[in-house]
Amino acid sequence: MASRYHEVYNSWKNDPEGFWAEAAKAIDWVKPADKIFDPDAGVYGHWFAGAECNTCYNCLDRHVEDGRADQAALIYDSPITGNKKTYTYAELLDEVQTFGAVLQDLGVGKGDRVILYMPMIAQAAIAMLACARIGAIHSVVFGGFAANELATRIDDSEAKAVVTASCGIEPGRVVEYKPLLDEAIELSNYKPAACVVYQREQAKASMIEGRDHDWAACAEAARAAGKQADCVTVAATDPLYILYTSGTTGQPKGVVRDNGGHMVALHWTMKNLYGVDPGEVFWAASDVGWVVGHSYIVYAPLLTGNTSILFEGKPVGTPDAGVFWRVISEHNVVALFTAPTAFRAIKKEDPNGDLIRNYDLSCFRTLFLAGERADPDTLEWAEAQLKVPVIDHWWQTETGWAIAANPVGLGVLPVKHGSPTVAMPGYGLEVLDESGKEVPRGETGSIAMPLPLPPGCFPTLWQNDERCRESYLTEYEGYYNTADAGFMDEDGYIYVMARTDDIINVAGHRLSTGGMEEVVAAHPDVAECAVIGIADKLKGQIPAGFLVLNAGVNRDPSEVEGEVIKLVREKIGPVAAFKIALAVQRLPKTRSGKILRGTMRCIADGQEYKMPATIDDPAILGEITDVLKQRGIAS
Ligand code: COA
Ligand code: AMP
Repeated sequence: MASRYHEVYNSWKNDPEGFWAEAAKAIDWVKPADKIFDPDAGVYGHWFAGAECNTCYNCLDRHVEDGRADQAALIYDSPITGNKKTYTYAELLDEVQTFGAVLQDLGVGKGDRVILYMPMIAQAAIAMLACARIGAIHSVVFGGFAANELATRIDDSEAKAVVTASCGIEPGRVVEYKPLLDEAIELSNYKPAACVVYQREQAKASMIEGRDHDWAACAEAARAAGKQADCVTVAATDPLYILYTSGTTGQPKGVVRDNGGHMVALHWTMKNLYGVDPGEVFWAASDVGWVVGHSYIVYAPLLTGNTSILFEGKPVGTPDAGVFWRVISEHNVVALFTAPTAFRAIKKEDPNGDLIRNYDLSCFRTLFLAGERADPDTLEWAEAQLKVPVIDHWWQTETGWAIAANPVGLGVLPVKHGSPTVAMPGYGLEVLDESGKEVPRGETGSIAMPLPLPPGCFPTLWQNDERCRESYLTEYEGYYNTADAGFMDEDGYIYVMARTDDIINVAGHRLSTGGMEEVVAAHPDVAECAVIGIADKLKGQIPAGFLVLNAGVNRDPSEVEGEVIKLVREKIGPVAAFKIALAVQRLPKTRSGKILRGTMRCIADGQEYKMPATIDDPAILGEITDVLKQRGIAS
């Protein structure tokens, strides 16, 4: 089939408001928009101004009313615990109505923030939808973050309540969440009034009288009293959720998602981008703590009446590298969305794809990859093994859905390895030089998008319009700066190669090296430090910290290195995967004192580099090389 992409993209370009007004017809509104786009509202305008709606209604109630009551909405599949449970749309609605009533009983209402610190269990999705139902704003915190990160998010969001589980389960260890939550609340200045704890059998959380409430007991009480939360009408422009993501400092950015534009954009993507029809099974093997989990485990598949899989496991080791194929064949998954790192892990364990042959994958149509650049090696391996289109697509927490992709539903465009293909309707893509001029095709520059961003993208940062403007909108007047660098080819295919800031991508997880430096620098024996992302075969990048110790520290430097590693794990969390700390004599700098992180990264990755003209003392690069060689990092 010839792709309709160009026709559809041009129809958006010629009439953006008409395009999104048409897409908005797929959503049930309490009140339609007064203006499809209001350029005068908010930081750069608001979509669907004046409209009223409820996201949970669109995800659940309307499907139950329209004949999907008995269709599976959510399949919880947990190879790590050996549990599985399917929720039909009617059952999921019942759970959400009940939990919504529990939250209301605890005083949570429209506009209140609720932190969800949850492992990959169905209750995470239930809690998200319950918040959406009652007009509360959820903020999910990934389970791999430490107490300190949780505290920062409680403070910034001023969360009225926290919902958690007694534990998450990682291979070989049970991660008890409750002590982390208790510590976070102790650290935070803002104290949530109530915590709801879902007790799992692998660990029992101890409860604080008066503040903590048992999920099961509360739900039972609500049921006994016949309490069910109704949908609370919100403005389309009201926040649905806040998702904190790494910024360039230790203070994460609270990315806001609104209700109306989010529904319209996500609904549009399921058919047009992912090529998935209502009733089919879609699987995003991510975590609800990340944006992919928000958009494609919970909201998009439910908005369109699909069945979504919520998978608690790893691509390898739970129990083996065949688990993805087992889930696909067992649940009839038509499209899988995951990070390239998961495929690198599978390829390492099962290079010949022998485990794939154990399963009937005839239902499976497309593999989507995102979260980091899909390296051509991994992509080719996946194509050869699975014999389906493998689609790389590029997006960010801020956008909530793909900026560039190969729209399967509109007809696949030729795949070019290394490129996430072309701009989706709603996004204009330009590659700019430092002065904001477009560079010629094929030349690298900063990727920016003319404002306004499309529906579904963040309207602002939580209670911080100024930081939103400063971080994204001031570098290039009238544009959103993606902080990704890359180039565009003659066919308009974009190549996203690197970040222009200090963000690194570790196993598809977005992390700030600046945030890690803040933690490392706080060690009393560290005079100064630099954390950089270095290439890693499995995780794409991993952080490496270089430490200059204070004069007079006469301990074995390896002791300080070990302490720093422990500190990052304690302060940021295991997800930082910070396992390399190297004591060095000096850091290479420019004459104006800027640390030459880019050059250090080239040395660690074994790449050619030009001696920076402004370097203060070139001999330091030799010292860095020696340390890296001694540790087997550079050859
Ligand atoms: N709760 C607590 N700890 C967690 C956690 C969670 N939810 N998720 C990860 N961690 C821990 C891990 O146990 C690990 O701890 P360790 O240092 O004690 O081993 C650490 O954080 C780093 O985790 P990760 O980077 O995920 O590495 P891994 O070795 O456990 O697994 C992969 C490697 C490739 C299998 C895994 O990263 C993966 O599946 N990635 C897919 C990424 C993804 O879905 N990204 C979302 C965008 S689509
Ligand atoms: P996150 O906000 O966690 O989704 O991370 C967003 C960042 O991940 C982007 O700014 C990119 O740097 C990177 N990224 C995500 N998807 C891709 C992709 N398909 N290709 C290249 N980089 C990607």
